[in-house]
Amino acid sequence: MCSTRTPYLVTRARAGPRLTFVRAQTTMLAPKPEVLAMPQLSNLAARDVETVLHPNTNLATLPETGPLILERGEGCWVIDSEGRRYLEGMAGLWCTALGYGNEELIEAATAQMRKLAYAHLFGGRSHDPAIELAEKLKEIAPVPISKVFFCSSGSEANDTQVKLVWYMNNALGRPRKKKIISRLKAYHGVTVASASLTGLPNNHTDFDLPISGILHTSCPHYYRFAEPGESEDDFSTRLAAELEQLILREGPDTVAAFIAEPVMGAGGVLVPPKGYFPKIMEVCRKYDVFMIDDEVICGFGRLGTMFGAEAVGYEAQSLTVAKALSSAYIPIAGVMVPEVMYQAMVDESRKIGVFGHGFTYSGHPVAAAVAVKTLEIYARERIVEKVAAKAPRFQARLSRLADHPLVGEARGLGLVGGVEMVADKATKQPFDPKKGVGAQASRFAEEEGLLVRPLPGDTLSVCPPLVISEGEIDELFDRLERALDRTLDWARRERLLAA
Ligand SMILES: Cc1ncc(COP(=O)(O)O)c(C=O)c1O
Repeated sequence: MCSTRTPYLVTRARAGPRLTFVRAQTTMLAPKPEVLAMPQLSNLAARDVETVLHPNTNLATLPETGPLILERGEGCWVIDSEGRRYLEGMAGLWCTALGYGNEELIEAATAQMRKLAYAHLFGGRSHDPAIELAEKLKEIAPVPISKVFFCSSGSEANDTQVKLVWYMNNALGRPRKKKIISRLKAYHGVTVASASLTGLPNNHTDFDLPISGILHTSCPHYYRFAEPGESEDDFSTRLAAELEQLILREGPDTVAAFIAEPVMGAGGVLVPPKGYFPKIMEVCRKYDVFMIDDEVICGFGRLGTMFGAEAVGYEAQSLTVAKALSSAYIPIAGVMVPEVMYQAMVDESRKIGVFGHGFTYSGHPVAAAVAVKTLEIYARERIVEKVAAKAPRFQARLSRLADHPLVGEARGLGLVGGVEMVADKATKQPFDPKKGVGAQASRFAEEEGLLVRPLPGDTLSVCPPLVISEGEIDELFDRLERALDRTLDWARRERLLAA
């Protein structure tokens, strides 16, 4: 008979004879419990392991640990195939802004599927939802935008940004100006060009990335990279000077663009230091470097402003949007381009006869209809203002974690936070990455009924749906505190702490 039993692995705890159920995190290095029995995966989990190639997962340990299989979602909560409830502390992957089970979004998708399930935008064809969505995005854009190009993911959108910058500079008669500068620890996606923009080793190693012409400047993480005694403002000045040196070294006539997330997400939830973006922008303007704002996580309210750039003083020329654009109910992303870029593309069309870029699902009508409804809900429910109102409570609870013996830095902005765990608070000594402390902490959180994400550098990220209530914010941090306490006990037992 098929069993739908627990996807947990039966193991014996190291300290004693008691049988415990353990499901190690699979996205990062996970500490390996002593396995005394063969993995007892549920039928569904076994089928998963047999068939599904999981993104961003430790594929070597997955067959032993099995997947966490989610079945349902309600508001800010998700329920697994065993009926366990979790507070979705990561809004999925920084994306389910309006939570689960929003009937208006479901209705918008259903109605559009009934009316016109598919139509494309190639060769000048169009449809209502794409037009309405482009209009709305132009209306709320923080900088002047001429047109919106649609795609289905943040990676596709950032790949498009790279191609459009190259295309524009060819059209403008400066074919040498093609290099793009990103930052160490940035995350911009995983397709060939967007993974190259990403500044994380796991996304490059053995993929033969980054491609040539993509450069990475310093990471603006004050806690980790400031010199002793350096103020935040001085740190920003130094980073801007480093960017300028890089541009001068490469040759300003070869550097086309700079791309940045307002708050760096997957790199560790890194909030820019004081003065950072104004100083960086000054350098970019000086050398005519086109600025791209990757709003994939920060866009649509995450930082308490409609776009993250507004919260951190960044004014770029083009924007990448995705994730919360449809509250993740359906994939859709966009590249919002200024007139100067658009006109260059028109010139190329005159020359070549076509703008030769686009996806089958560019502006998919169902996705566009859901996005239109999502933006309508953000406006009607004053979601961004509500985030700004809830953010102080969220940030206060986050800051409190900085007093925890395991926490080196607790940082964040709006409704996003990162908790960096260290082996020694005084010296900021990190844990040995092989010990998988972040993965272990995330597993404890999961056992406490909270989903968080371990990021490189043993940082746990929290990024709940924007509709989280004040009570749920407290619940989130109560559970996270318990998970940190358990991680501390475990780290002590495993002798991972420095002192
Ligand atoms: C800032 C940023 N840009 C781009 C991406 C890539 O988006 P996708 O996973 O939809 O390709 C992500 C994904 O997390 C992101 O955080």
